Amino acid sequence: MKGPVWLCVGCDFSGYGQTHPAAFLSGWGKIYVTGQRLADKRVLVTAAAQGIGRASALAMAREGATVFATDVNTDLLETLKNESDGAIEIAKLDVRDDASVKSHVERARPDVLFNCAGFVHHGTILDATDDEIDFAMDLNLRSMVRTIRAALPGMLVRGGGSIINMSSAVGSVIGAPNRFVYGTTKAAVVGLTKSVAVDYVTQGIRCNCICPGTVESPSWHDRVKALGEKLGSYDEALQQFVSRQPMGRVAAPEEIAALVVYLASDESAFTTGHTHIIDGGWSGQ
Ligand SMILES: NC(=O)c1ccc[n+]([C@@H]2O[C@H](COP(=O)([O-])OP(=O)(O)OC[C@H]3O[C@@H](n4cnc5c(N)ncnc54)[C@H](O)[C@@H]3O)[C@@H](O)[C@H]2O)c1
Repeated sequence: MKGPVWLCVGCDFSGYGQTHPAAFLSGWGKIYVTGQRLADKRVLVTAAAQGIGRASALAMAREGATVFATDVNTDLLETLKNESDGAIEIAKLDVRDDASVKSHVERARPDVLFNCAGFVHHGTILDATDDEIDFAMDLNLRSMVRTIRAALPGMLVRGGGSIINMSSAVGSVIGAPNRFVYGTTKAAVVGLTKSVAVDYVTQGIRCNCICPGTVESPSWHDRVKALGEKLGSYDEALQQFVSRQPMGRVAAPEEIAALVVYLASDESAFTTGHTHIIDGGWSGQ
């Protein structure tokens, strides 16, 4: 998965392991676009077996990172390992389990932590039970507290790190129908992100979150199927999801993964404490 060359976006310079001749003149001379944008970075990804987490693990491995891909679904993780020709290390990590988080963070020693695990609850405030709210709070929010608490001390000792949290366009950016629990937890991820970012900005730690619109993933297909069963037509359900998209389509996981790579890399060294909206114009109208 290791790419062969560095290529400067500002001139014809290319090389491997060399310093750009104009690097002392300005920042842009240090920006490279192919192959090794994450060379020497150790990355831990949660919920990496499918969807955005999987696409991001593969994209970061292609950019030269040492990737530790984790999930509770070990069968699917095995397929990820095969797809990366063994370049990606896999491990069963349940983000709801303190001990599991601690031991895997210790092993991975991540410079980049991508907190991707999350669950979509369907319904309004009157539909949600306390148990459902507790479950989503734990999986969507507390899990990030766990992984950050485990990874941050090591990042501080090593002098830096990039933490990327998965939020959503739904929550702090826009409200969506029947997404009470989901929107509430994802909005809280924004607060967590800003808080970590401001507390550690002088110590080399960056913390950002991503707010995608609708993304084609296995769980999204399940949601379309479930709505289809209610409406009596899968096609009608698909039409409902797609019709709220200004571009007339949902995102591919790889489109979100490209943003993850950017936030993981030193190209985004001046960026912290922000929500990065990537929603095909859904909230931009
Ligand atoms: N798909 C979308 O439209 C969309 C939009 C915005 C944000 N998101 C967010 O992106 C993230 C990924 O969603 P997706 O749709 O790409 O993937 P997905 O929902 O299809 O897959 C989720 C993965 O999480 C894993 N998982 C579940 N519980 C876990 C646990 N306790 N510990 C570790 N892993 C666990 C599952 O095994 C699965 O591999 C979620 O946080 C989701 O809320 C998704």
